[in-house]
Amino acid sequence: MTEPCIQRSFGRQAFGSDPAGYDAARPAYPEWVFDFLRERCGLVADAATFEIGAGTGTATRRVLARGANPMVAIEPNERLAAFLRETIPDQRLIVVVAPFEDAVLQESSFDLGLSATAFHWLDEDPALMKVARLLRPGGWWAMLANEFGNSSLPDPFHDATKGLLGKPCNPAAGRGDVPFALDAIARFAAAVCPTRDAARRVYAVTNGQIARL
Ligand SMILES: C[S@@+](CC[C@H](N)C(=O)[O-])C[C@H]1O[C@@H](n2cnc3c(N)ncnc32)[C@H](O)[C@@H]1O
Repeated sequence: MTEPCIQRSFGRQAFGSDPAGYDAARPAYPEWVFDFLRERCGLVADAATFEIGAGTGTATRRVLARGANPMVAIEPNERLAAFLRETIPDQRLIVVVAPFEDAVLQESSFDLGLSATAFHWLDEDPALMKVARLLRPGGWWAMLANEFGNSSLPDPFHDATKGLLGKPCNPAAGRGDVPFALDAIARFAAAVCPTRDAARRVYAVTNGQIARL
């Protein structure tokens, strides 16, 4: 994989200069995403859930509304973490202020893990290994990503702006022109799990499709 010219560690601070402004400008994820998590990924009442890179809670609120309990939001940026606490007064929410790599969480204790447009800031291989360790047998892992640069879909905005942005210059860049989030082969290749059972617990959800290892 080509080394991105923005370092992944930059993502820990990149989004926190104006949490309220960021929150106001950020588009909501479609409702079907959360229906899908409920119908296919065990997001039911009291599903023990963790989220990597919760930001201002764009996905967190919606997952809480579907019954997640506890909802462990892992967010390294202190200002974003404070925004989460202030704007989501819900006892089920636990905010862990740390990068996922350093977060101390109980293994085999979660029914669902997710990351919404944030996983590209982490080194995928060790992060997925840790995800697998945190999930209970039969638990689910979901990666949500806004699509940008999917050559199989019409995307006039991407077509109009790709010349300005140049070659992939961010941590989401996968092999060639395919972002990691859209590259099923790269995602599965990254999901190297210590045991077959652990591998079964790793799932990838992208673009309305689900794949099971
Ligand atoms: C593009 S924002 C997405 C925020 C939110 N999930 C959303 O959908 O609006 C990426 C988030 O990942 C967080 N992040 C970056 N590196 C991280 C890491 N190593 N561990 C956990 N979160 C990280 C950032 O602080 C930021 O909140």
